[in-house]
Amino acid sequence: MEQLVDQIMNNSPRKLIIAGNWKMNTTSTDAVELASVVNQEVGLLTDVSVVLCPPFTALERVASVIEDSNIRLGAQNFHPEASGAYTGEISAAMLRHLFCSFVIVGHSERRSLFRESDDFINQKIRAALDGYLKPILCVGETLEEREGDKTLQVVEQQIGVGLTQVKDVVGDELVIAYEPVWAIGTGKTATPEMAQEIHCAIRKMLGAIFEPGVAARIRILYGGSMRPENAPDLLDQPDIDGGLIGGASLEARSFNRLVQIAHQKAV
Ligand code: PGA
Repeated sequence: MEQLVDQIMNNSPRKLIIAGNWKMNTTSTDAVELASVVNQEVGLLTDVSVVLCPPFTALERVASVIEDSNIRLGAQNFHPEASGAYTGEISAAMLRHLFCSFVIVGHSERRSLFRESDDFINQKIRAALDGYLKPILCVGETLEEREGDKTLQVVEQQIGVGLTQVKDVVGDELVIAYEPVWAIGTGKTATPEMAQEIHCAIRKMLGAIFEPGVAARIRILYGGSMRPENAPDLLDQPDIDGGLIGGASLEARSFNRLVQIAHQKAV
């Protein structure tokens, strides 16, 4: 039985995702420029899922830049309630209305700077799925946790609580991003072997929550200083299904290069 599960887990082809998380960068004018160059160069690829996550203020204009392409739009955050007195917040329905298909949930900056808890993140995951948005659930350990040998424990807690009562996802609706906090924006990257070890452990955790076929279809992205120089080796790993890219997504040239690297792996 275990062998069969491993076989299903290993044989399922997963389309790589290259997602750009622009964070709090770009005015809507800058965003249109950046999205236009990405669109011209990689907008028609079909074997890689390219996702752009601009700030809220640029979503509508970026949506019109990419409307005839295969690029998908994502938001960086949202609020799990459907509507109401939540000053400053944005709902899933508002994002869908702007043609968003993805939303980043539980990014480490939101966990640490805005005190988002695993329970709140779980509410968002469920609200995203209910609202027809594909959540990209971010997990990952701090340097202190890694040095204290707590990486797996931390990730297991983030996955376990984050995905409470999320049984009926069909597979590619849910995306996980493993982002070691010490590698985000620091220029330090996990080695391909370090990342693969955690990605493989995450897939096993998913296997304990979902049917094996579903766990096999969920894409697990790596994030944390992924660049064209280190991407080929990271993307060679069997459980690394793409990247969530911060810094290198702000320049069309490096982002497009990352998409091309993923494309080479797919052909
Ligand atoms: P980075 O950011 O690529 O700049 O390290 C990744 C992220 O925060 O998603």
